[in-house]
Amino acid sequence: LSSSSTYTVPPSVLLLGPDNAGKTALLTLFERGTKPSSTHTSQVSHSIELNASTDSVTKASFRNHDDSTGTHTKFFLVDTPGHGKLRNVAMGKLARTEKTKAVVFVVDAAALGEQETIAPTAAYLYDVLLFLQKKATSKGKDKASIPVLIAANKMDLFTALPATMVKTHLEVELTRIRASRSKGLLDSGVGIDDVGSEEQDGWLGEYGSEKFTFQQMGEFDIDVEVLAGSVLTEEPGADKWWWWIAQRI
Ligand code: GTP
Ligand code: MG
Repeated sequence: LSSSSTYTVPPSVLLLGPDNAGKTALLTLFERGTKPSSTHTSQVSHSIELNASTDSVTKASFRNHDDSTGTHTKFFLVDTPGHGKLRNVAMGKLARTEKTKAVVFVVDAAALGEQETIAPTAAYLYDVLLFLQKKATSKGKDKASIPVLIAANKMDLFTALPATMVKTHLEVELTRIRASRSKGLLDSGVGIDDVGSEEQDGWLGEYGSEKFTFQQMGEFDIDVEVLAGSVLTEEPGADKWWWWIAQRI
């Protein structure tokens, strides 16, 4: 069958992450190909159609995404609201979007050094990763291992943590959350070898491990990568994130 006679739904890439991280700014940057537009707090999801060029010269840059002269792959980029009160909207997108090929979890690297930002950011990320882990281990037809890019945004600001620290800070916080959410289990005095699969299903990453690391998601074939960038400035820019997305659709 030629592709023109088959209706296919393009793959989707979901933008998740807490409010003020830069999701909508990133979407407008990719959409315009030049500069992001000013944004305000999102209350609804919004999706746009983009083309990732597969032409060897231009494929690594979003600045050529609308180039239709070469070969390209069409995909939907889906923006979601980050506000905690609208979490059901974002998680609903994650649960229901057809053909989700990747998740880009945007974080504000300039604010992540503060407890009041890292705590809610990690709590949200925990829910997303646990959802994806369950999806990867499910037996139904929706079973899939969806890769996650943690886009460490706002690198132009002097308070921004480098990508390696964004990664370790999040891992430490996720370890803490995992410990507190499984406290009932640990307090019951049941050895980790004795627990049923149901308890194990609620545990993020390697079961019984002391520290959570993103690498543990590899057990479920879920690749998690942290890449630094900036929506507002050309350096370091957003090309790395684009290239990560382009390779996964
Ligand atoms: P919600 O819609 O509330 O979930 O937030 P959001 O993730 O969509 O954030 P948004 O894109 O609206 O950006 C929030 C603010 O951060 C805006 O004022 C952006 O201009 C700013 N911002 C986004 N990216 C960057 C960046 O790379 N550097 C700097 N300095 N500011 C940025
Ligand atoms: Mg927004």
